[in-house]
Amino acid sequence: MQKICLFAGIRVPLHENFDAMAGYLVDDARKVTTHRLIEMKQQGKKIAMLTAYDYTMARIVDGAGMDIILVGDSASNVMAGSFTTLPVTLDQMIYHAKAVVRGTQRALVVCDMPFGSYQVNPTEGVTNAIRIMKETHCDALKLEGGVEIIDTVRKILDAGIPVCGHLGLTPQSINKFGTYAVRAREEAEAEKLISDAHALEEAGCFAIVLEKIPAALTQRVCKELRIPVIGIGGGPADGQVLVIHDMLGMNQGFSPKFLRRYADLYTVMTDAIGRYITDVKSCDFPSADESY
Ligand code: KIV
Repeated sequence: MQKICLFAGIRVPLHENFDAMAGYLVDDARKVTTHRLIEMKQQGKKIAMLTAYDYTMARIVDGAGMDIILVGDSASNVMAGSFTTLPVTLDQMIYHAKAVVRGTQRALVVCDMPFGSYQVNPTEGVTNAIRIMKETHCDALKLEGGVEIIDTVRKILDAGIPVCGHLGLTPQSINKFGTYAVRAREEAEAEKLISDAHALEEAGCFAIVLEKIPAALTQRVCKELRIPVIGIGGGPADGQVLVIHDMLGMNQGFSPKFLRRYADLYTVMTDAIGRYITDVKSCDFPSADESY
């Protein structure tokens, strides 16, 4: 028998593995902490992470049983329509993170530090990190880079703020890379990535995102590190992350090899909006039942 749940008054059919109280395959209803993520790696349990940028989406993602919600600086692309992640500001990230935190009960909420907010020097980095934590009440921050930013990472950790690293294809450096192609195929770049990952772990990061690198390199980092490695376009890892608009099929033009689409919301939404337009124009909506 198909399971149904009520979301915002709408009947939503659910996957057979969904438990309305606990979400998808969730065996622990407690708030996710950075310590529990490390325990999950030790126990061989995979970590699910997805982006969200607003309250309503965060409620759905959290209610489904997500372990980590990332308020990604991909907000710059999918929310604001910018070509890269560089333009999004600290104030805009704070706005998105506040909304996501309001919609989240169980997942660990990680907010990206935007480009320019931590690269100048460690003092400016920690000042901006504290501002994000104070104003948004999120649980942790994510920064892109390895040894170049290690003093800043240490200072933020010293302030008591959990940090997630991000290596490989780091989108804030797209102008340096010049391409979104797979990173670290060459030995020198792969060796640097491995030593950066160790430096981030030794500094005290609770997890590292590895983006668009060869699967064998991801496997090596997963084996060598105690902390969880979350992959995106890096093959199997301790966990996976995707941008929610991409996995829900809202971005028709974006279809890299690593992306699995779980829905075709572009078509679903276009159809619904089209039917609404037809109903308004034909005076079918609102009906007598929909009027006071
Ligand atoms: O901003 C973002 O969405 C990210 C993920 C792609 C990891 O950093």
